[in-house]
Amino acid sequence: MPDVPDIKVTPPGPAASEIIAKDNSYIATTTKALPIVARRAKGLVVEDVDGNKLLDFSSGISVLNVGHCHPKVVEAVIRQSKELMHFAGTDFYYDIQASLAQKLVEITPGSFSKKVFFSNSGTEAIEAAIKVGRWSTGRKRMIAFIGAFHGRTMGSLSLTASKPVQKERFFPSLDGVTHIPFANCYRCPYHLEYPSCDLWCAKTLEETYFSTFVPPEEVAVLFGEPVQGEGGYIVPPKEFYPTIHKIIKKHGILFADDEVQAGLGRTGKLWGIEHWGIEPDIMTTSKSLGSGIPIAATVFRSDLDFGVEGAHSNTFGGNLVGCAASLATLEIINEERLVENAGKMGEYFRKRLVELQEKHRLIGDVRGLGLMLAIELVKDRKTKAYAHDEREKIVAEASRMGLILLGCGKSGIRLIPSLNVSREQIDVAVEILDRAIGAVESGSR
Ligand SMILES: Cc1ncc(COP(=O)(O)O)c(C=O)c1O
Repeated sequence: MPDVPDIKVTPPGPAASEIIAKDNSYIATTTKALPIVARRAKGLVVEDVDGNKLLDFSSGISVLNVGHCHPKVVEAVIRQSKELMHFAGTDFYYDIQASLAQKLVEITPGSFSKKVFFSNSGTEAIEAAIKVGRWSTGRKRMIAFIGAFHGRTMGSLSLTASKPVQKERFFPSLDGVTHIPFANCYRCPYHLEYPSCDLWCAKTLEETYFSTFVPPEEVAVLFGEPVQGEGGYIVPPKEFYPTIHKIIKKHGILFADDEVQAGLGRTGKLWGIEHWGIEPDIMTTSKSLGSGIPIAATVFRSDLDFGVEGAHSNTFGGNLVGCAASLATLEIINEERLVENAGKMGEYFRKRLVELQEKHRLIGDVRGLGLMLAIELVKDRKTKAYAHDEREKIVAEASRMGLILLGCGKSGIRLIPSLNVSREQIDVAVEILDRAIGAVESGSR
């Protein structure tokens, strides 16, 4: 028997309950998913404040691609913290920041010259992308996909379209954003079938939108996630992005590739967009870049640069400790061949999930790329009615058994362990998921 999970007291135990009560009193309402209070973690194992050991298949929302507290990241953070923590990289100069920018330029798609703008979070990376797009083209409009998640600050929120609650009462955000349906073959928005659909979901951009109410010459940027994340881990068919890309390039529209969740090896390639063979003009990355230290980067074609001091800047972007953590993270991904492992383990995990699908009527779909995997739960495989409540119950039940999972979309569960996950850990997760789904199906939960 593996020694993890090890549940001594069903979470939340007494110590966790006390902290949750304090949190509820003082911390603004956000998006809490599970009553787990972590004390420490290593690799894929999280120990909570009551001494439970849980297996983390959420990776801190896709942040811990190299696992929790990787010794090399910890060492880099300590080393940098002892030397210099802040000096303001936007007003002065840091070697480590320029080195990280150089590295990002080298490893991102496109052999053209690029520049990097550093910030602290995914949403800020998107804000910078919006500004780069508007600044460089002089155009105002933008296009994003229904189901997209690009962040919650007012600029990125105008692109986000995955849940009404994210937008409610905040209108108006940025004007001039048009959302078009994403390619979702499991639930085709046009009720067509791939490939006989002939990629209507992509072609409609030109044939419907550009030809009726969105003047393409006014569009600065189209934003897309290589695999739609919060929207439900939706993988488009292989021709989708190349078709979209061809259309927008005809009209001088920039393509911004949001790699905040899919990037850094998660999909079995270093960048998710590599699956679709196109080179973005602008790319955003954050989450796992700093392995838990906040950092984000917007990487873009050099000719799009502001070129004017003060057009865009911030205080903490490219913080020294974040840069040290990022350089260590990139080294680990390379040295430990984590992109390759994500592909290999992803294939194995998917096979195991398909076995679960054969056994459990609630699993309507198994999808994803590499270790960016999800199952979608449905009440009925024919009608595909979303099994939202069942999803919530399964995630909660799995956590009580010691497996940390997160939902996505209306009734999906994401399966996103660190990229150094082992076969044995996947087997444990599948076994717990099997029991949790079984308990909900049988009505005992
Ligand atoms: C694709 C994508 N873009 C942007 C963001 C926003 O990142 P943050 O929460 O760091 O602002 C997220 C967060 O989940 C994301 O998944």
